Amino acid sequence: MNLDFSQIVPYIPFILKGIGATLKFVSISIIIGFVLGTLLALCKITKVPFLKGFAVFYTSVFRGTPLILQLMIIYFAVPQLTGYDISAFLSAVLTFGLNSAAYISEIIRGGIQAVDRGQTEAAEALGVPYKPMMLNIILPQAFKNILPAMMNEFITLTKESALVSTIGYLDLMRRAQIVGSDIYRNFEPLILAGLIYWVMVYILTVAGSLVERRLRQSD
Ligand code: ARG
Repeated sequence: MNLDFSQIVPYIPFILKGIGATLKFVSISIIIGFVLGTLLALCKITKVPFLKGFAVFYTSVFRGTPLILQLMIIYFAVPQLTGYDISAFLSAVLTFGLNSAAYISEIIRGGIQAVDRGQTEAAEALGVPYKPMMLNIILPQAFKNILPAMMNEFITLTKESALVSTIGYLDLMRRAQIVGSDIYRNFEPLILAGLIYWVMVYILTVAGSLVERRLRQSD
């Protein structure tokens, strides 16, 4: 067997820097996805046909086409139209944020619809206007329902983030590939990257369970 992990030792700091790069764009993407996803979910449950139609169409496009294609369109094709030389980081954040919004909007819509109808009726009977009703009554309850699904989305994005290596963003995956071609050995750096992804996802899972437990205390 031809294995020699000692050769990647000098490259470990270079690979580890990818953790920050990966986490940075995944966290910004998830924030964009959450804000946009909440707005889209609200559009989906309104009675205004145009907003509903737009939100449903949006979701069908972003869920119905491959994430890598969306990434390539934003990175390679949009500059052709607009002349704006978009950076790999901005393309990554935009694509992942827009893509995740489609998935998150469905998670949040499900969460809102799972909140007992009586909550809305009681709020309306008390004359609470729409905005405070959503912000202070419905969404906080919905949030508790959606937490496991949101955690799943976070994990999916963390792993899918490896796609940005295709547009040259120096994430964990890209760094492992660079080291591989530098030392003519691919197995070791890829295994190290795999191990790091696994640990990151594991930490996310544990953090998710902690938050869930904390939220359940108020039940
Ligand atoms: N590989 C899938 C695709 O290409 C990833 C979709 C992203 N998923 C998500 N939950 N944001 O479509």
